[in-house]
Amino acid sequence: MARRPLIAGNWKMHTSLDEARALAVAVVAASNDLDDRDVMIAPPSTALSEVAGVVADSNVILSSQNVHWAVKGAFTGEISPLMLKDIGCKMAIIGHSERRHVFFETDELINKRIQGAIENEITPVFCIGETLSQREEGKMIDVLEGQVWSGLENVSLHNASQLVVAYEPVWAIGTGKTATENQAQEVHAYLRDLLGNIFEKNIAAQMRILYGGSVKPENIDILMQQDDIDGVLVGGAALEADSFERIIRFHK
Ligand code: PGA
Repeated sequence: MARRPLIAGNWKMHTSLDEARALAVAVVAASNDLDDRDVMIAPPSTALSEVAGVVADSNVILSSQNVHWAVKGAFTGEISPLMLKDIGCKMAIIGHSERRHVFFETDELINKRIQGAIENEITPVFCIGETLSQREEGKMIDVLEGQVWSGLENVSLHNASQLVVAYEPVWAIGTGKTATENQAQEVHAYLRDLLGNIFEKNIAAQMRILYGGSVKPENIDILMQQDDIDGVLVGGAALEADSFERIIRFHK
């Protein structure tokens, strides 16, 4: 079965309520007539319910930018998977490099978030990626392997749609430097193999692996033409309706 492409926009800590509503309306309009791909947007928490109203009855999937593992409790500053489900959120970005590097989230914490999300039927978009120095020192594979094994410890899946993996080299995020299509394809193929050692082979074969890091209208087509790139996670270029529309409307 062919993997259905997923184009995901991570709005990070951007957009007022008005801006979020307008951007969501534009994304819905840009994806309305497309039935061969999925489109996801991850607004900041303050705009989640508002955007939920805009995307209801559309093809656009709502995601949060993080999620706690418990359904409720004394966890100041966190959002539970049940709260997300309650407002119509279907996905949650977990382990984004900004969470790992700015907020020091560990593999162990990320693993708990992934387990909690899956248990509550929220699909994690599980982010991994190496820094520039790790790549230059030849440690890329070790780093990715470590992140994948620890992040997915004790995670079991019934089908491939319960998890999305996003490969985002840290040196490419927000820097304007994109991995070349060959660099990205090589890592994606390696990751699919690795996922095949963790889950059943047919689950790994059907799982979507996204690329992220300075994805823009200029490089989307060539990235999406690679065999193992099943979609993209977009930051900066997802904040502009026109550029995100061009990305959504990629050509293979
Ligand atoms: P960028 O961000 O597209 O601005 O590089 C990607 C991400 O952080 O997911």
